Amino acid sequence: MFDLIVKNATLPDSTRNIDIACADGIIVGLEHDITAESRETIDATGYLVSPPFVDPHFHMDATLSLGTPRMNTSGTLLEGIALWGELKPIQSVDDIIARALRYCDLAVSMGLGAIRSHVDVCDDTLKGVEALLEVRAQVAPYLDLQLVAFPQDGVLRDPTAMANLIRALDMGVDIVGGIPHFERTMQQGADSIRQLARIAADRGLMIDMHCDESDDPSSRHIETLALETQAHGLQGRVTGSHLTSMHSMDNYYVSKLIPLMTEAEINVIPNPLINIMLQGRHDTYPKRRGQTRVPELRDAGLTVGFGSDCVMDPWYSLGRADMLDVAAMGLHVGQLSSRKDMEWCFDAVTVNSAAIMGLKGYGLAKGNKANMVLLQARDRIEAIRLRAHRLATIRGGKIIARAAPVVSDLNLPGRPETVNPADYAPQTNQD
Ligand code: FE2
Repeated sequence: MFDLIVKNATLPDSTRNIDIACADGIIVGLEHDITAESRETIDATGYLVSPPFVDPHFHMDATLSLGTPRMNTSGTLLEGIALWGELKPIQSVDDIIARALRYCDLAVSMGLGAIRSHVDVCDDTLKGVEALLEVRAQVAPYLDLQLVAFPQDGVLRDPTAMANLIRALDMGVDIVGGIPHFERTMQQGADSIRQLARIAADRGLMIDMHCDESDDPSSRHIETLALETQAHGLQGRVTGSHLTSMHSMDNYYVSKLIPLMTEAEINVIPNPLINIMLQGRHDTYPKRRGQTRVPELRDAGLTVGFGSDCVMDPWYSLGRADMLDVAAMGLHVGQLSSRKDMEWCFDAVTVNSAAIMGLKGYGLAKGNKANMVLLQARDRIEAIRLRAHRLATIRGGKIIARAAPVVSDLNLPGRPETVNPADYAPQTNQD
């Protein structure tokens, strides 16, 4: 007797009519026509079943704070930073926990199964750390939350940040963060990377730094991060988030930089919604896009996953935990419009991001965790095109969120009675 069978699924590789059997939280069958009994059955009716969405870059200590203590009226990064400085001292641990849990509810309904969140350690009370450690424990049954100790004001620039970061790691934060481009000079930025890499190596931890998040073509922190990664034998365990400067760097220099990053097996996390919103602000016209060199980094063999970064916080008023919206922006800004590239953009918010986070048992295969999302779309490209409606989120073989399909009733002479947006498909199946 199985716990759950998902009937008539289409898998991300476009294999059709697959039944997925789940027992004891594990996928135990993945084949055509499973007839055994099950406590619960859900009919996917040919829609796409994917492993859950994964957001590899988020700020859960700030999310849903939009409007507290006031709105970001200009919509700029600078006012956002000022606003966060006003909010930090007045928010309580309980405020942060309540907002974060509410965000996790939304995330589950949108098919997210894992989130890597940075948590600001530039606050001597470490309220954010205390709050998100509690949230990590509370949501563990339905959402994997990974925490990065993030020195928002610069680990060397802020006099107590290094001590706070170490305290946060002692309290149980998972990953070492950094923000070298925000230190006072390029030299201090490089020093911060060396010190943080040593801490990560000594403790056996992963690294995920906000790195070169500017339009400065001469920012060089990813180079230092790649070198330190190799020096400490941390290959494959280090992530460069944002890397927006690479958009503006000299092409010859980049031709030298990318092989260095490849040797260090650096993981790459662009945040398309935020990068396109915040970068190029000092430009007149033409304005730079500010998204890092996604296809070039991918083609060099690096793992690239898209993150959402912000939802309704001091820096970004919009967002709704929709990783398909993130994938769509990454697709457009990166001009990733071939059929294969569009499919890859779906992978960037699922399997690639799961690999960066090091999630165990992720993916639709026998023996893996029975975690998945049912989408009102027929394949990966249609999922992005439609920002497909989430019909069910499944965790450990249990349905933890469910929604009715979106179908409109029509009242037009001589036309069909209903319209389902997922019924509009290309005229050919050929690539
Ligand atoms: Fe960020």
